[in-house]
Amino acid sequence: MGEITNVMEYQAIAKQKLPKMAYDYYNSGAEDEWTLKENREAFSRILFRPRILIDVSKIDMTTTVLGFKISMPIMIAPTAMQKMAHPDGEYATARAASAAGTIMVYKDRKVVEQLVRRAERAGFKAIALTVDTPRLGRREADIKNRFVLPPFLTLKNFEGLDLGKMDQANDSGLASYVAGQIDRTLSWKDVKWLQSITTLPILVKGVITAEDARLAVHSGAAGIIVSNHGARQLDYVPATISALEEVVNATQGRIPVYLDGGVRRGTDVFKALALGAAGVFVGRPVVFALAAEGEAGVRNVLRMLRDEFELTMALSGCTSLAEINRSHVLTEGDRLRPKPRL
Ligand SMILES: Cc1cc2nc3c(=O)[nH]c(=O)nc-3n(C[C@H](O)[C@H](O)[C@H](O)COP(=O)(O)O)c2cc1C
Repeated sequence: MGEITNVMEYQAIAKQKLPKMAYDYYNSGAEDEWTLKENREAFSRILFRPRILIDVSKIDMTTTVLGFKISMPIMIAPTAMQKMAHPDGEYATARAASAAGTIMVYKDRKVVEQLVRRAERAGFKAIALTVDTPRLGRREADIKNRFVLPPFLTLKNFEGLDLGKMDQANDSGLASYVAGQIDRTLSWKDVKWLQSITTLPILVKGVITAEDARLAVHSGAAGIIVSNHGARQLDYVPATISALEEVVNATQGRIPVYLDGGVRRGTDVFKALALGAAGVFVGRPVVFALAAEGEAGVRNVLRMLRDEFELTMALSGCTSLAEINRSHVLTEGDRLRPKPRL
C-alpha cells in the first residue's frame, strides 16, 4: 500500500493485522448497524457555505477544554482494551495525545471510589461518566466469535479489586462480564453522588436528547459528550451529528457540548463546531492506527485530522474557532425549511 492519506485507510491495515475476534470487536456496532452507517452518512448530508476573500494566512486552532489549553479541538475517545491492538496499548495512545480518563460505574460504590482516587492521584483532569451503557448493546460479531479477552490480557483497572478477569461464556464474554458488573440502577442522583466524592469535573458521555441535556445541566455536569457509543449500544438512534444541535440548544451555552461518533475528516470536525460543538473525540481510527503502526500511527491520525481541519477552516474563510458559526453549514433541515438568514 502507498502512502496513507486519510485516517480511514488504517482500517484495512488493521483488518489484515489483527485476529478476527479483535478486529470485529473494534469495528462492530449494535444489531443491524444502522446507526453505525448513519454516524458517517449524516456528516455527508451536511454541506458548506464557505466565505471567500478573507485573509487566512494565519489560522489559530487552539482552544480550551475545562480550562486546559489544547492545540486543536480534536481529542481521543475512550476505547477499551487497546492492548489487543498493539502491545503498547493505551500507553502509546496516551503518549500520542494528552489522555482523558474514563470510568464505568460499578455496582460496588466502593470500587468506584477507589477508581476515582486513583484517577485523582494519577493527575487526571476530568472524569467522563458513560451513561449509555446500563447494559451492553448486542454486537453480533462478538456473540458469534464468543468474544473473550486473550489470556495474556486483563482489565488492569480492576485487578486487585478481583474484577480483572473475563471468563469464557456462551455468547459474548464481554456482555456476560458487563452484565455481572455494571450497575443498571445508575441514575441522575449518582451523578450528584460522584460530584460529592471528587472535585474533578464530570463530563456526562452519551446524551443525545434535549431532555437529558437539561437534566445534565441541572445535575451539575461540567460538560456533555453527545455520543451514541460509536453506534455500539442502541441501534436506530440518530447519528450524533444529527442530535448535536438539539443538545446544544437545550444547554443554552451553560456548559460545553462535545461530540463523538463517525468523525473521520477535518471537514467533520468543522461541521460539528459549526453546529455548536466545543470539540470532538475520535474512537475507532485511533485503535486501527494503533494496530497498524503503534504510537506513530496514532500521531499520524491526529496530524492528518489537524491538517484537514486547518485546510477546511482556510477554505471556509475562518481564522479562529470563534469564527466558525452556524452560517457556515447547510443541514438537511435547512434545505427542507429554507429560512432567510440575512
Ligand atoms: C472498541 C471500542 C471500545 C470502546 N470502549 C468504550 C468504553 O469502555 N467506554 C466508553 O465510554 N466508550 C467506549 N467506546 C465508545 C467511544 O468512546 C466513542 O464513543 C466512539 O468510539 C466514537 O465513535 P467512533 O468510533 O465512530 O469515532 C468504545 C468504542 C470502541 C470502538
